[in-house]
Amino acid sequence: MQRILIKNGQVVDPANERDGIYDVLLEQGQVAAISENISVDGAEIIDAEGCIVAPGFVDLHCHLREPGQEYKEDVASGTRAAIRGGFTSLVAMPNTEPAIDSEAAVRSMAEIISEKAAARVYPAGAITRGQKGRDLTEMGGMMQAGAVAFTDDGLPVTSSRVMQLALQYSDMLGVPISVHEEDPDLAGDGVVNRGRISTLLGLPAIPTAAESAMVARDLELCREFGGHLHIAHVSTRNSIDLIRKAKDEGLKVTCEVTPHHLTLTEDLVRESNYDTNTKVNPPLRTSTDVEALVNALSEGIVDVIATDHAPHSFDDKDKEYIFADFGISGLETAFSLLHDQLVLKGDITMNRLIAALTVVPATIFDLPGGTLSQGEPADLVILRPQDEWAVNPDDFVSGGKNTPLAGWSLTGRVDTVLVAGRIMMRDGELQC
Ligand code: DOR
Repeated sequence: MQRILIKNGQVVDPANERDGIYDVLLEQGQVAAISENISVDGAEIIDAEGCIVAPGFVDLHCHLREPGQEYKEDVASGTRAAIRGGFTSLVAMPNTEPAIDSEAAVRSMAEIISEKAAARVYPAGAITRGQKGRDLTEMGGMMQAGAVAFTDDGLPVTSSRVMQLALQYSDMLGVPISVHEEDPDLAGDGVVNRGRISTLLGLPAIPTAAESAMVARDLELCREFGGHLHIAHVSTRNSIDLIRKAKDEGLKVTCEVTPHHLTLTEDLVRESNYDTNTKVNPPLRTSTDVEALVNALSEGIVDVIATDHAPHSFDDKDKEYIFADFGISGLETAFSLLHDQLVLKGDITMNRLIAALTVVPATIFDLPGGTLSQGEPADLVILRPQDEWAVNPDDFVSGGKNTPLAGWSLTGRVDTVLVAGRIMMRDGELQC
């Protein structure tokens, strides 16, 4: 296999506490060397002067919709969207049709992935059969088939007893249980955060307690029964307070936030004239919540950023607000949005942003990659932090054009992406 030498980039590799100008040599799909002024014969040179060179991003939460909802997205389009966003590894959610809830379903997903995926995809299995919240799936067999985590994402596990058992299996098998925290009785038919905006707009509301009450329950279960509790798409200050306390106590709890919950507020629902692309579950919250999430990310109480990429078709969103599907197509804007809104404003450092997108997610779900250590897979991104671009959903390669960021101008762009030493995007142009 070809040798690639990336010259003069600012290498940001939080796993190795490296941040400086270096050359990176890739050989046989692996990181072969990082040091100043490498020169070798016969290597393809990529000039990265003025750019950041980092490990490929690892997304613990995305929806690829295959099998069953290919009119929204499929593994090919979703992984090409991932590459455009700098993501080289993804954990695919099991809320497909049918759900990934058996060993056979994981195996068939693994086949689809090996045929079609442009990035590495790790399937998550459902916690309960059909994601119906009643009978546990056979986690051990599903892990042998390749499932890396279990989740009923999109839906909560309402039964405390089922959740207890899931955590006990998590403890036994050493696998994370990722939870969508939503009390369905409290959330009801709500579509936006409960507060000023829901009152002004007269839209049915989802209280913050719909999330934090379930977070509290699951932390209690984790304290008593063990297991690795991973809390998906945290959106409220109250949830953060509970997670902080549980971490102080030493519980095995990790959590993620999405780029949209870190940067957007419920006000956007009103400002955008009810743009259904602002409709997401959990809903966009208040500036107080956003501030708490950003601070918690900065401190490490929030472990990782995960996109919750939720692509939908035009028709799924072209409805009255209350009827539209929940979700934001996020892979292609994640890095730029976070860089523009958080790093450039000084709220988090570039190093923390990259850690939360690379080594931390890889470590907590025990996945390969996330670092540029010698011998690691040559999964890597080259970023142009100064480049400004305008978001145009028509240019998305994802089947889901559903972004509330249409027309936004963002500073910071993903330029080049390699997976296992293969150039998948170069100078902003997909090669896959
Ligand atoms: O907005 C969301 N969309 N939140 C979820 O939890 C599920 C997701 C989806 O599958 O569309």
